[in-house]
Amino acid sequence: MSNPSLLILPGDGIGPEVMVQVRRIIDWYGDKRSLAFDVSEDLVGGAAYDKHGTPLHDDTMARAQAVDAVLLGSVGGPQYDDVDFALKPERGLLRLRKEMDLFANLRPAQCFDALADFSSLKRDVVAGLDIMIVRELTSGIYFGEPRGIFEEDGQRVGINTQRYTENEIDRVARSAFELARKRGNKVCSMEKANVMESGILWREVVQRVHDTDYPDVELTHMYADAGAMQLCRNPKQFDVIVTDNLFGDLLSDAAAMLTGSLGMLPSASLGAPMANGRPKALYEPVHGSAPDIAGQGKANPIACILSFAMALRYSFDQGDEAARLEAAVEKVLADGLRTADLLGEENVTPVSTSQMGDAILAALD
Ligand code: NAI
Ligand code: MG
Repeated sequence: MSNPSLLILPGDGIGPEVMVQVRRIIDWYGDKRSLAFDVSEDLVGGAAYDKHGTPLHDDTMARAQAVDAVLLGSVGGPQYDDVDFALKPERGLLRLRKEMDLFANLRPAQCFDALADFSSLKRDVVAGLDIMIVRELTSGIYFGEPRGIFEEDGQRVGINTQRYTENEIDRVARSAFELARKRGNKVCSMEKANVMESGILWREVVQRVHDTDYPDVELTHMYADAGAMQLCRNPKQFDVIVTDNLFGDLLSDAAAMLTGSLGMLPSASLGAPMANGRPKALYEPVHGSAPDIAGQGKANPIACILSFAMALRYSFDQGDEAARLEAAVEKVLADGLRTADLLGEENVTPVSTSQMGDAILAALD
């Protein structure tokens, strides 16, 4: 059997710097755990624009469609401010998401014990937190028609339309239940069925998918506003939360910030299952290209490393190996090693990007 394939798109700014550390970890899995990947690397964003005059070459797009998973660093930077809108670095990333039809956006909120004091909430509330928000990404109020600003009875009216088909709800619900089976086996679905018909349909379809194909997963429903309160009051009650595009936008940003720095946050975007059963998948840190610190060895590689851990768990069914990598990150943080974005406490050791990589590799060994 051939090795699973991985396309790496380091991108711009700190993207290539953090990706160097991820490459070392991928190599470690091949050497030490007999878990080898067929890794190829290509350009995206400004780097692709500089070489090809487009932020995503058609050949790269085709490769992304063909591999088991894509791992992306970050795109963009001030040197591209004057580039045409259609050719901006960010358009490369948007094209990937759109053409791969990545409808489920996964944003974990995970709190490593060593960083629990970084949170704006009390240590007890967040220490050990590990939840996953699944946000529907390709439909809902950001896309529904009619939309626009219209003239009505002598004044302007702004309109956006929340619109979900059964199929759109069905497929994102399936993504959430599949994920839950690889985690804590619990899904909480959030909508506002009390005031929105789209929410009534959402609740009904999620329940039907559950009853038909995932009766082993525990399912609850919650109104999204109550969910927001519960996320702040007692976030550890949740495992997987599935919700629409708008509520997911808000809830995932709020949940992510329960736990600290942008340099720590991974993400994934999943699409439909491919012929081999794996979902189409793009893994990337939440942060951007951080031009203010690029080239200085200051970037925290952990967000990108944890994105690879998500790939291990959700694309390659290597949950134990993902946990091994997360434990290595936890150990290094517990030992007090901190990149610049995590400084501020006493008795910690400031480290560079590559020293953080060294330490995580040593912890893996
Ligand atoms: P940013 O995420 O690049 O940086 C925000 C702040 O967080 C900066 O002070 C930065 O130094 C810090 N930071 C981010 N990641 C870090 C890490 N791994 N380690 C340490 N510190 C880190 O967002 P910003 O400044 O708004 O955007 C910069 C560029 O990145 C823009 O061109 C923007 O369009 C692009 N961008 C790209 C994204 C992507 O590739 N997915 C997402 C967000 C922004
Ligand atoms: Mg947002």
